[in-house]
Amino acid sequence: MERKYPHLCSPITLGRTTFRNRMFSAPMGGTDIANDGCIGPKSTAFYELRAKGGAGAVTVSELMVHPKTDGSHAYHLDESILNSLASATYTADAIRRHGAIPSIELSHSGMFAGTYMTDKSKQKSLSQWGPSDTVRADGVQVKALTKDMIDEIVGAYAHVAGLVKRAGFEMLMVHGGHGWLINQFLSPMFNKREDEYGGTIENRARFAIEVLKAIREAVGPFFPIEFRMSGAEFVDEGYGIEEGIEIAKLVEPYVDLIHVSAGTYQKTFGITHPSMFTDHGRNVFLAAEIKKHVSKPVATIGGLSDPEQMEEIIASGKADVVYMARQLLADPFLPRKVTENRDGDIVKCLRCFTCMAERAATSTRRCTVNPIIGREMEGDEVYPAPVKKKVLVAGGGPGGLYAAWTAARRGHEVILCEKEDTLGGILKSEQALPFKHEMYELSLTYAKFCRDAGVEIRLNTEVTKEYAERENADALIIAVGSSPLVPPIPGLEGENVVIVNNYYKEKDKVGDEVVVMGGGLAGCECAIHLGMEGRKVRLVEMRDVLAPDANVRHRPLLLKEIDKYVTVHTGHRALRVTSEGVVCADKDNNEVLVPGASVICALGQKSRTDVVNELLDAAPFVRVIGDASRVSTITNAVYWGYHAALDI
Ligand SMILES: Cc1cc2nc3c(=O)[nH]c(=O)nc-3n(C[C@H](O)[C@H](O)[C@H](O)COP(=O)(O)O)c2cc1C
Repeated sequence: MERKYPHLCSPITLGRTTFRNRMFSAPMGGTDIANDGCIGPKSTAFYELRAKGGAGAVTVSELMVHPKTDGSHAYHLDESILNSLASATYTADAIRRHGAIPSIELSHSGMFAGTYMTDKSKQKSLSQWGPSDTVRADGVQVKALTKDMIDEIVGAYAHVAGLVKRAGFEMLMVHGGHGWLINQFLSPMFNKREDEYGGTIENRARFAIEVLKAIREAVGPFFPIEFRMSGAEFVDEGYGIEEGIEIAKLVEPYVDLIHVSAGTYQKTFGITHPSMFTDHGRNVFLAAEIKKHVSKPVATIGGLSDPEQMEEIIASGKADVVYMARQLLADPFLPRKVTENRDGDIVKCLRCFTCMAERAATSTRRCTVNPIIGREMEGDEVYPAPVKKKVLVAGGGPGGLYAAWTAARRGHEVILCEKEDTLGGILKSEQALPFKHEMYELSLTYAKFCRDAGVEIRLNTEVTKEYAERENADALIIAVGSSPLVPPIPGLEGENVVIVNNYYKEKDKVGDEVVVMGGGLAGCECAIHLGMEGRKVRLVEMRDVLAPDANVRHRPLLLKEIDKYVTVHTGHRALRVTSEGVVCADKDNNEVLVPGASVICALGQKSRTDVVNELLDAAPFVRVIGDASRVSTITNAVYWGYHAALDI
């Protein structure tokens, strides 16, 4: 068979271990960490799914090596703890049995110990240890590690590495990037020491090298060791690519794979985890630059999801391995689809940060486009329904499409009706925003899945009570979504006003000076886009905050873009729209004109309750999902759609 992406699919040998392909799963924290630091069964299933999906290696993360001075990434491996070795062994085994190489990341978060915890107040009582005495931006005191403590931590890395090998892991990754302890030593931003661990780059790399040497002693000469580093820190006080190259050259003798990531968790989150506002593969140049100076294989990472781009990276010699994190949540089966020339079936990551935000909020994982994530133990297979039924889905947005596809996979006869002439629902409006193109693409991908699974799609078809009863379906899934909120503000019905959902169809109506009414997520994103296009954009919002509905990871990055492109008027209540702009009342109730000949109305959505109520008795089994049930997220629409179809 001729593989479409031969470079991605070719094996690679590191140490004496051969990996089946070059598509590796990056470290991502699991979902249930037991109180004693053991890897819980949900996490094991979380990692196993990516192994099933065909990745060459699956990296479990993060194993803290020295709980006495850490406390951030709560997995630990300690043979004195009942179940510790067993839980790691089950995890390595769950990955290995699907042909992927199990790897595990060893980490110490140093002066940022505890920052991951849901209860941030706890970190105040933890001892924070870093390269140098300092006070963190959040006021937490950090003490410099003594030489004895450094030796103890180096010993802990070695000890844990030995246990990792014993548990069945066949590679390990030393986390030397993203602002954690080893990076803190490497970085002039954190490391102000005046002893042999500070000053020159050789001194700053001493701790990393001691760790790597000790680990090598523990695991032997042929066990692959990978060093994850930031190729550059992208802050003035940090190091740049020149020192990144030096670091790679210094660690090279002790490792089998140099993994080049970027930035720090604390200062450049949107570079370390490239946001939707950045290019895919924006950090590849760092790996490519480092690769010119070392002879060991190099890995790259950051916003990668397109097989063509990843193939080119390897074919052109920019890197030897590509890592993906978020993309393998969106579609754990990407490596298998690439290998089987089924790249048209890949579900793309939206870079919406639901995955990371959910962890911050509830300590669990979710993914907008993949309802299985975080719930892998419930099974990723869709089993045939015992009794074949007729299923009618009203609405072709993300939830309706996912429900229809799932029901069809279960063997049901499925009809999906969409009142408009194209599928996609609210996702259609995203086609106008290049940085949200994947969100639009999602509707095309789900629609393809529906067609491939045999769903009968009826466009321009509104499901009324009579229609549903005539179809005489056994089950009705109501996914009719929401409609825009257009309050009775004088002038809103004017020719110069475009409803944000319709912007993609009515772009030509929008001129060079625009007022966006409504600072929720949709309004902010549209304003950013218009600003990126070079228009003068003013944003009017009644509340004092912008985008409170955005998740905690996406929001700060969104606000940075707002700062770049948009003039913001919070605390402004729109009174009327005129041909000159929007007349508002400011906080003191003064009338002010926010000028702009074009106006975008982004004042929210409301459930189509009238349609829902009409349909509630139109079939024996009825389920309301997505915005039709409660104006919410695509994440919920897809998740509820999936489970509605499983319940039939
Ligand atoms: C849900 C999630 C959890 C992560 N957890 C870790 C972690 O524990 N250790 C780590 O080194 N990186 C972690 N990362 C960072 C990723 O390994 C990766 O470097 C980053 O997400 C950029 O890759 P991507 O664009 O393919 O997502 C995490 C990323 C995500 C999305």
